[in-house]
Amino acid sequence: MTDDILLVEREGGVAHVTLNRPDKLNALNTALLDALLAAIVDLDCDPDVRACVMTGAGDKAFAAGADIQAMVEMTTSQAKAFSDKGHALGAAMESAHFPIIGAINGFALGGGCELALACDFLYASEKAKFGQPEVNLAVIPGFGGTQRLARRVGIGRARELCFTGDLIGAEEALRIGLVNVVTPHADLLAKAKDTAARIAKKGPLAVAQCKRAMLRGADVPLAVAHELEAQAFSQLFGTADQREGMRAFLDKRPASFTGK
Ligand code: COA
Repeated sequence: MTDDILLVEREGGVAHVTLNRPDKLNALNTALLDALLAAIVDLDCDPDVRACVMTGAGDKAFAAGADIQAMVEMTTSQAKAFSDKGHALGAAMESAHFPIIGAINGFALGGGCELALACDFLYASEKAKFGQPEVNLAVIPGFGGTQRLARRVGIGRARELCFTGDLIGAEEALRIGLVNVVTPHADLLAKAKDTAARIAKKGPLAVAQCKRAMLRGADVPLAVAHELEAQAFSQLFGTADQREGMRAFLDKRPASFTGK
């Protein structure tokens, strides 16, 4: 249904999640945050989901921020609950067993930039614009931006973006490592879906463990991170897919993975 605030479609092992409030540039209100969280939890319960592409409806925005109309009269406790909701969504996206590719088709501002940062990696249309303009509204990022942006692009650039509220274009986002690829606008979704489909063909347990080790390892001492990696690596041995993947290589045939 096109009047749904969030569209979730499946193409084989790849889920397509589309924020669908194009008239409000896909601004994140409570209903959209709730729908996104429910969708990610739902997809995470399905082991057949191997990868996900997240994008925004319309050709102007991925998401132009948290919904300012919804926030203007918020009390401190309502703002805390709203921020907690955004954090819960980011945490669910990061802990989901499948990679999420953000296909950034336009503005990714404020909460929209933070939603993008909770994706595993980003592809951007040449029309994409990124920023944390919350200081223009006399607030700060509340869905993880003060932390995830620095981890993605480095503390100096993150500080500059958060303190100035400046917007940057796709090429600058590429240059600072915020996005992996910039495509012509019309090619963005196909490019993201192609990468998702390629990931979906890999050993699914391996992709999930790799995502987990890279996420959980990032914020602990290196020796602990290495131990996490060794645990994840060794747990894959003895799975049907590990045997199949290695036997297929030795037999010089394509592997066929089952996720077991
Ligand atoms: N929250 C609520 N509504 C938003 C929104 C947001 N973050 N961003 C855009 N919208 C709405 C506008 O109010 C407008 O609604 P209306 O048609 O009912 O008036 C509609 O989306 C289109 O936006 P508009 O501003 O007319 O488009 P534009 O092309 O002129 O400008 C932006 C685009 C992104 C530059 C501008 O919308 C903007 O600055 N948005 C806010 C960005 C921001 O501060 N985000 C961080 C929030 S914490």
